[in-house]
This record gives sequence, C-alpha cells and structure tokens, in this order.
Amino acid sequence: MRIVLLGAPGSGKGTQAARLKAELGIAHISTGDLLRAAVKAGTPLGLKAKVVMEAGQLVSDEIVLGMLEERLARPDTRAGFILDGYPRNLAQADALDQLLKRIGQPLDAVLKLNVPDADIVARCEIRFKAEGRADDNPETVRKRLQVYAQQTAPVADYYLNRGLLSEIDGVGAIGAISARLLAALQSRPAATA
Ligand code: AP5
Repeated sequence: MRIVLLGAPGSGKGTQAARLKAELGIAHISTGDLLRAAVKAGTPLGLKAKVVMEAGQLVSDEIVLGMLEERLARPDTRAGFILDGYPRNLAQADALDQLLKRIGQPLDAVLKLNVPDADIVARCEIRFKAEGRADDNPETVRKRLQVYAQQTAPVADYYLNRGLLSEIDGVGAIGAISARLLAALQSRPAATA
C-alpha cells in the first residue's frame, strides 16, 4: 500500500505514520527526518537546509525530490510506503506523480489529518519545552502554519480531484486517531486518475 499522509505541522503525521508502518508493514518516509539527519551529519545539503528549516520555510523542491528519489530506491519500499511531509506544494505533488509513474508505484490513498491551529500551537509548545526542536519555537510555528496554509493546503484539492483524498479528525487519543486512519484506508474511494 502506498500512502501520502497530509496535515499541518504538528498535526500528528510522524506519530501516526510510525503506527501505520507497524500496522501495515510498510516503510515510513519522512522528508523532515531525512533533512534533520542531513543537518545533524553536517553535510553541505544539511547546512543549506538548516537555515531554511529554522526560518520555518520550505527547503528547495529540487533538494527534497533528490532525497526522496534516493529513499524510494531502497528495498524496504517494495512492500509499500507512507510519505510524511511530502508533497508540500503543487510542484512537489506533480513531481511525485511523475516519479511514481516512472517507477510504476502509483498512490493508493491520501489521508489528511485535520487539527485546529490552537491545538497545533499547544502541541509544538510542549515539544519545544521537552525536546528543544529549533523550529518549534512559537514564532517559527506561526510561520510554518502560514507556509502550510499558502503552499501545502492546496495539495489536498489536488488529490481530492483524483479521488484519492480522505480527511480524518486528528484530535483526540493517538490510538483513536490511528483507528480512524485505518478505517479510512478500508473504505477509501477508488482512484480516478
Ligand atoms: P517536518 O519534519 O515534516 O515537520 P512538520 O510537517 O512541520 O511536522 P511535525 O514533525 O512538526 O509534526 P507532525 O505532523 O509530524 O506531528 P508529530 O507526530 O511530530 O518538516 C520540518 C521542516 O523540514 C519543514 O518546516 C521544512 O522546512 C522542511 N521540509 C520537510 N519536508 C519538506 C518538503 N517536502 N519540502 C520542503 N521542505 C520540507 O506530532 C507533533 C507533536 O504532537 C509531538 O510532540 C507529538 O507527540 C504530539 N502529538 C501527536 N499526536 C497527538 C495527539 N493526538 N494529541 C496530542 N499530542 C499529539
């Protein structure tokens, strides 16, 4: 099964993708985690990405697509995958479409987690205090939410028009949200493109 998990920053994509990975036995690919690993390793790409991420902006489409292509070539993706944090704008959605066509791995479903901004701000504040993730400071979270509204939110319509989108309430207990996601996968609409 090949899934895109959409949702605002802090909406629970990473948390839920890890649970879906365990439940479905498919790979979890987070472009944020790939970028953070590059930042930690201090690679030239990581050094470039660090500044952009700490400003709450999107890293260039070219860099992220290159990373994703490399990751999708690994054997653990053969059983399927969950993309968490990609695509983040319409150009990335088109690029993904072309890439998946080329490798013969079309998407089966797109799941979008809906969480009000107030909950997101609260979640990121808790994580900022607990873990100190640089882009979780309140000012950068506001910027990330703006970038999401302007650039990423239209991606949901892109998939709605292809008959792939299911929207899920992302508020409540983590286990209850996982159950909603799995139920949506069971009853997903058939793809039209
Ligand atoms: P990325 O790492 O993808 O961050 P994000 O989308 O901003 O999302 P988060 O990781 O903050 O949240 P999440 O939705 O995964 O939720 P989580 O499960 O962690 O991207 C970071 C940056 O990298 C971007 O800003 C950008 O610069 C760059 N980047 C990444 N991909 C890119 C791309 N494709 N193109 C360009 N640039 C890209 O949960 C959040 C918190 O809430 C956690 O503490 C969690 O424990 C808690 N939580 C989870 N579920 C619940 C619940 N039900 N109730 C209460 N708390 C909960």
